[in-house]
Amino acid sequence: MNFVGNHIISVGQFNRLAADRVFEVADSMQPYAMRKNITRVLQGAILSNMFFEPSTRTRVSFGSAFNLLGGEVRETTEVKASSLAKGESLYDTARVLSGYSDVIVMRHPESGSVAEFAEASRVPVINGGDGPNEHPSQALLDLYTMRTEMAASGQSIDGLKIALIGDLKFGRAVHSLCKLLCLYDSIQLNLISPPELALPDDVLDLLKAANHTINIFHDMAEGIQGVDILYVTRTQEERFPSQQEADKYKGLFRLNQAIYTENCAPNTVIMHPLPRDSRAQAQELDDDLNQNPNLAIFRQTDNGMLIRMALFALVLDVVNEVDKNAQPVTWYTARRHLPI
Ligand code: CP
Repeated sequence: MNFVGNHIISVGQFNRLAADRVFEVADSMQPYAMRKNITRVLQGAILSNMFFEPSTRTRVSFGSAFNLLGGEVRETTEVKASSLAKGESLYDTARVLSGYSDVIVMRHPESGSVAEFAEASRVPVINGGDGPNEHPSQALLDLYTMRTEMAASGQSIDGLKIALIGDLKFGRAVHSLCKLLCLYDSIQLNLISPPELALPDDVLDLLKAANHTINIFHDMAEGIQGVDILYVTRTQEERFPSQQEADKYKGLFRLNQAIYTENCAPNTVIMHPLPRDSRAQAQELDDDLNQNPNLAIFRQTDNGMLIRMALFALVLDVVNEVDKNAQPVTWYTARRHLPI
């Protein structure tokens, strides 16, 4: 895969070598993310961060990643703050914004919208999530986190046993992660969801074609036994036809410390793409797991910075220049002392 100048729209663009290259570059971004060093390698470059759906992690971490490489960020959040609200097409918006920017990250509620936008763009576009379809940078950071978490016990991604729990129908993070896992060997996936929120057939077919072992469960306690990783997801209420319909599925699967202790091996890693829904009727990942050392959710979000810095460095072809520009950080930074 050639990263330089290219769009990143789908994990389908990646082979195993390309994923490994992203992880290798992400590793090299640690000193900058940890505020040991600064680099101005993207000084003068502009990122347009276009988020037409709510976001905390993806929007802020893409923006911060670009800042940490020395670039400037221009943001638009919400359709109503852009001329899309006046009927402007994605084509025109892309033609215009690509004249102002060196790279664009876009999130939009429609499947395929980011690909349509990218076709008209004169600069590289990175998909920050297109409806229920894909979330490639999330899948890369999830896989990077799995790789890092399992390295402690000497295990690689090949042969992992993973439980995917919750809304597997609308969860774009799950869809992209499953597609990326097809690059690896002998994965066991326990798919735990209500029957109505099962993994879409096209994604299931890819997993089967990769010869992975697929087990389907509707009972969480049964499905989480014997796995290495629990990947919990929120009910994606914004994708349902009505709030009432979404509410039917909230709270059906709740992972808490007691259920974890009863059903999982003590070192089972707990992941979630976040946000978790902490409202009383949902709580798919209980706060009582916050002190569990195997809760990797905030290591996941920290890893998102590394992955997004790596994507910018690869797409804008500055990987070999980053360290040449490095200088030590001179201010006091608590960040440096936090475990990542
Ligand atoms: N995981 C994720 O996409 O989070 P945000 O919606 O906050 O960006």
